[in-house]
Amino acid sequence: MSSHSSTSASRDSGEGAHAGDEALREEIARGLSASPPSLPPKLFYDDAGALLFEEITRLPEYYPTRTEIRILETHLPQMARRIGPGVRVVEFGSGSGEKTERLLRVLDEPAAYIPVDIAEKQLRRVASSLDREFPELRIAPLAADYTRPFRLPPTDDPPESGTPPRRSLLFFPGSTIGNFEPDAAREFLRGAGESLGPGAILLIGIDLVKPREVLEPAYDDARGVTAAFNRNALVHLNRLLGTDFRPEAFRHRAPWNDDASRIEMHLVATEAQVVTLPGPPDETGHAGARPRLRLALEEGDHIVTEHSYKYTLEAFRELTASAGWITRETWTDPSEWFAVRFLEWNGSRH
Ligand code: AVJ
Repeated sequence: MSSHSSTSASRDSGEGAHAGDEALREEIARGLSASPPSLPPKLFYDDAGALLFEEITRLPEYYPTRTEIRILETHLPQMARRIGPGVRVVEFGSGSGEKTERLLRVLDEPAAYIPVDIAEKQLRRVASSLDREFPELRIAPLAADYTRPFRLPPTDDPPESGTPPRRSLLFFPGSTIGNFEPDAAREFLRGAGESLGPGAILLIGIDLVKPREVLEPAYDDARGVTAAFNRNALVHLNRLLGTDFRPEAFRHRAPWNDDASRIEMHLVATEAQVVTLPGPPDETGHAGARPRLRLALEEGDHIVTEHSYKYTLEAFRELTASAGWITRETWTDPSEWFAVRFLEWNGSRH
């Protein structure tokens, strides 16, 4: 996460592929060549998708957001005491900023706030509204794909002599960590600790294992908002890389995979079809003559667009311990559907 300085922000200016999208083209080609074919969940979050996700968070079936907010409402003062004064707050996938605002209100003189998100428009909007509410706070938004290596902005003022060095807090709510495969989650959290440095704190939201009857409707709501969110990944990809997906030729499905402990979001082909990923554009900006990939689908074949892993408290403790983080405190709701955890970086361990 700290090695290069590529900011592969979403490119939503609308005129199709840019030279900088070639890493994305390769990532997409690799995913679509796999069996089953897959697409990365970050494709959900163009401007339209960010709004659809906000709508999902308000659905009666989608329990995570409101459950986590209730946990925060109840325990934030205690969380703030554990975090302590003067921290630099980094947030990955800051989204609507609703939880951030609550956190910033209770923290004791935070030194800076660095939201990192690929949905650039939403990022700017949230940063400027937080700037009005917290005029004293240095806010440094970063439009970046945090699943790729990128560099955090340098720490501001060196602390005055005699004061302890600033600690960095990674705020990672929403159970977004569930989008990573467990091995990738471990490497990601280790990388985060290494780049945040000594004294780093992690305040993270974890969606917990629960009955299928609760999980599946949360990802397949009656109004079809999640279905629209899922198909929008194809619209976004068509615009980014010039693929010719027909979103209407796919239906949404979201089964709970008990063995793997995850919800899977699928797009199921409703008819046989061939989809083309063009090659990189030539110097004139036109798609190369040779397609990068042709994907043939039979009726009923599916593309995986997201894994949303659910953890037990114990399994998540083991995962983070193996990534160099010490679990210090856990807060949950009364039904134990969701947890917020406070962890500290064990920098001596690598
Ligand atoms: C933003 C990754 C936490 O997995 O619950 C919501 C995304 N996908 N509905 C989740 C999502 C379908 C969400 N996260």
